[in-house]
Amino acid sequence: MGVAWGLRDIVLRDGVKMVIFAGKGGLGKTTSSAALAYAAAREGKKVLCFSTDPQASLSDIFERDIFGKGEVEVMPNLYVVEIDADAKINAYIQEVKQRIREMYKMDQIPPEIEAYIDSSVAEPAMYESATYDAMAEYVARGEYDLYVFDMPPFGHGIRMLTMADVLTSWVEKLTEVREKAREYDEIARKLRSERLVKEDEILNELYDIRRKLTTFTDVMRDRSKSAFFMVMTPEAMSVYDTEKALEAFKAIGIKPAGVVLNKVLPREMADNPSPYIRNRYRQQEEVLKMILDKFGDLVVAAIPMFPREPKGLDGIREVARHLVDGVTRIW
Ligand SMILES: Nc1ncnc2c1ncn2[C@@H]1O[C@H](COP(=O)(O)OP(=O)(O)OP(=O)(O)O)[C@@H](O)[C@H]1O
Ligand SMILES: [Mg+2]
Repeated sequence: MGVAWGLRDIVLRDGVKMVIFAGKGGLGKTTSSAALAYAAAREGKKVLCFSTDPQASLSDIFERDIFGKGEVEVMPNLYVVEIDADAKINAYIQEVKQRIREMYKMDQIPPEIEAYIDSSVAEPAMYESATYDAMAEYVARGEYDLYVFDMPPFGHGIRMLTMADVLTSWVEKLTEVREKAREYDEIARKLRSERLVKEDEILNELYDIRRKLTTFTDVMRDRSKSAFFMVMTPEAMSVYDTEKALEAFKAIGIKPAGVVLNKVLPREMADNPSPYIRNRYRQQEEVLKMILDKFGDLVVAAIPMFPREPKGLDGIREVARHLVDGVTRIW
């Protein structure tokens, strides 16, 4: 079964620029992201592996201090970035306050307004848009051959991807309003025989944002340029979650490139003298049947449950053999 096995044929071909790993917490998104990024870099692609996890999980798996440090080269061609989204949000909030002070020529923002601005820091949407903005920025800059995005666990990272449309139409609207305002301003000035003022900084900024978002969504929506993978484990709970997530993806018009099955118990457990271990394995076999039945060909790779957490470049390389080269077949 299965058209392709292992991510190599799906991802490491020409034209693919962006890979996103989504899925519930703790199932292997970061592990998969690191392994794919590693394999692509070994093939000579210049790769950026990106996460916003405040737990600094890429730092953990690469065994390097990366969090909030910008792009860190962990081996030739492989750059890892773990953005400090909270710091980014705080910097943004400061900027907003500064602009308000300048615009209204005040030394101090009224306390109730300041409190309102500060409270927006706690909004999950704020975290998501900061993440989205950082992703779009990297892709629009275009300095890498491949971008691997390790998504945050909440909402399977799906809600964040729906921001594409929300943000784009929001920026479109703002631009339109600003353009109209500028038109009226010009007419008013002409009537008063005044000369045209300098460039509209805000409008230019909006054009920049729009360019950035469009570049990003164009890549994201193009199936030949981007691939989404759901990471799951062979447990009933994970089957139900993945089913729901796949529906949510479908609803926003994103077709996943495949499902990665992680933490698959090894066959040798079937003959283990311990009934506990044998049972555990038997249970997995039932779930695997369910997975085959529900997702079938969508499953494109299987990674075994290792005796220890895969960490460091050696551990990552081992994961890549399964994820990318597909050395473990389950059916
Ligand atoms: N195949 C495996 N065998 C053994 N341990 C694994 C395997 N895959 C992942 N792990 C371990 O499971 C834990 C969770 O994996 P990982 O951090 O990749 O998940 P995640 O989906 O990124 O989690 P989060 O949602 O919290 O970001 C880690 O400690 C990792 O080392
Ligand atoms: Mg993670």
